[in-house]
Amino acid sequence: MERRWWHEKTAYQIYPKSFLDTNGDGIGDLKGIISKLDYLKDLGIGILWLSPIYCSPLVDQGYDISDYYNIDPRFGTMEEMDLLLAEAKKRGITVLMDLVVNHCSDEHEWFKAACADPDGKYGKYFYIRDYKEGEPLPCNWRSYFGGPVWDKLPGHDDKIYLHLFHKKQPDLNWENPEMRQDIYKMINWWLDKGLGGFRIDAIINIKKLLPFTNFPADREDGLCSINLELERAKGVLDFLDEMAENTFRKYDAFTVGEVFNEKPSELPLFIGDHGVFSSMFDFAETLINRNDTGWYTQPPVEPEQYKAAVFASQRKIEGVGMMANIIENHDEPRGVSRYIPEGDLSLTSKKMLGGLNYFLKGLPFLYQGQELGMENVAFTSIDQIDDINTIDEYNVAIEAGLSPDEAIKAVRRFSRDNARTPFHWDASKNAGFTTGTPWLGVNPNYTEINLASQLGRSGSMVEYYKSMIRIRDDARYHETLVWGETKPWLEEQKNLMAYIRDGGAQKILAAGNYSPETQTMKLPGRVKTVILNNLDEYNEADGTLTMSPYQFVLLELE
Ligand code: GLC
Ligand code: CA
Repeated sequence: MERRWWHEKTAYQIYPKSFLDTNGDGIGDLKGIISKLDYLKDLGIGILWLSPIYCSPLVDQGYDISDYYNIDPRFGTMEEMDLLLAEAKKRGITVLMDLVVNHCSDEHEWFKAACADPDGKYGKYFYIRDYKEGEPLPCNWRSYFGGPVWDKLPGHDDKIYLHLFHKKQPDLNWENPEMRQDIYKMINWWLDKGLGGFRIDAIINIKKLLPFTNFPADREDGLCSINLELERAKGVLDFLDEMAENTFRKYDAFTVGEVFNEKPSELPLFIGDHGVFSSMFDFAETLINRNDTGWYTQPPVEPEQYKAAVFASQRKIEGVGMMANIIENHDEPRGVSRYIPEGDLSLTSKKMLGGLNYFLKGLPFLYQGQELGMENVAFTSIDQIDDINTIDEYNVAIEAGLSPDEAIKAVRRFSRDNARTPFHWDASKNAGFTTGTPWLGVNPNYTEINLASQLGRSGSMVEYYKSMIRIRDDARYHETLVWGETKPWLEEQKNLMAYIRDGGAQKILAAGNYSPETQTMKLPGRVKTVILNNLDEYNEADGTLTMSPYQFVLLELE
């Protein structure tokens, strides 16, 4: 595998709307991010990914872009963006923006032009079809946020357009070379400005199964999951290769794709040395127990399932490339609430999960607040929710006959708003996020979980994360922790998750007792150094380690 600058870094995702508000409007902004660059540098961050800050009506929180060349005034100005790039660079931090090009906003000038003249140039930038009332739609796919993927083209009773996501997110027609060139031009414009690269949104969706085809319905609504067409659509890699060739490769830019549903044989084409992206997220653990029926039917994740999913991913990337490892992001609930069995959430168990994830092979991507151990929110009513996806899933549960109380339970476990509440800076009003009214309610537990109470306090979550990042950067362990192979250890032992990072000359064991009971683990060899331990105790005797509930250790072997 070719070694590139990004393989060494730890990345951090900022959800700008919820990071830090500096003007009291309740919305986080670029000035807020700039003022915290020192914090991120001190944490050890080398790559910073910003969720979208382009002009947007914000129906899907910026993933609906109305102008790719400007910053939404609620987030700041282009001058502030330039300042952010310059200040980050001074601190050795590379900035990524979110590239959302499967769709734009219905308020983008291209879509407006398409509505004005559906047969003209911009009509071909979208998927527009003739339609007569009462006729069947071109296909029965269900949009990600509920309802059919087709809607009336504004201003035209006899035309419809395609949107795989919200109706205010019309899909761009990637089959049109002119449209593709416009996208490449925009990407290069940002890279010329000094942007380090992109996180690439929903990218598998750019290739549609054409002609549009129906599939058997999987719910009462008569529609079917989008996954059925995605599995069958061929040729996404041709688009992606053309995009990489026209843009990223010319700049040595870093890219990380939001890729679901790839086929195993395609992995090298995605993230191999000459792949279309530098990396892609490992979503294997977020897919555990997922089904097309709805959140309300999903059972909780068992430790054994988590282990199996993670190890399967580690095996498939070996010798191919590196995936980006996460426990959460802005589309998922908080990782600690999801992967630690209910009732067992504690500082110790959170550290165990963090350690097990952080030392895997790949690029560690942290999501804002993860380093504090931020948790899901105890939502009690759908009125506390802003996210369109959650509202849809809530309605699905209600329509299936659940009571509001039962439906809100599913929301509590899976809502994207769990991760989108404001960052907890300190114990003052609104967690120090804003002097105004936050756009989304603050998690009431901010008085206990916040940065000010953790920074500099040994044993705290944030100091633990800092030490993990320092360990990976430490010349003594770096080679093994970045490049070493991952070899599962005692994989069959229930509720033990352990693996050896094997760098040839050096072997490092990461092990977590993923259970509320004491457990013993046979060691694979003599221990040279205890590099990290989430507890003060360490009980080794006769080649066996006795591990307390949720203990995590990182051991250098002889
Ligand atoms: C991606 C984003 C998500 C968004 C969707 C549509 O999955 O991460 O937040 O809703 O794409 O753009
Ligand atoms: Ca603001």
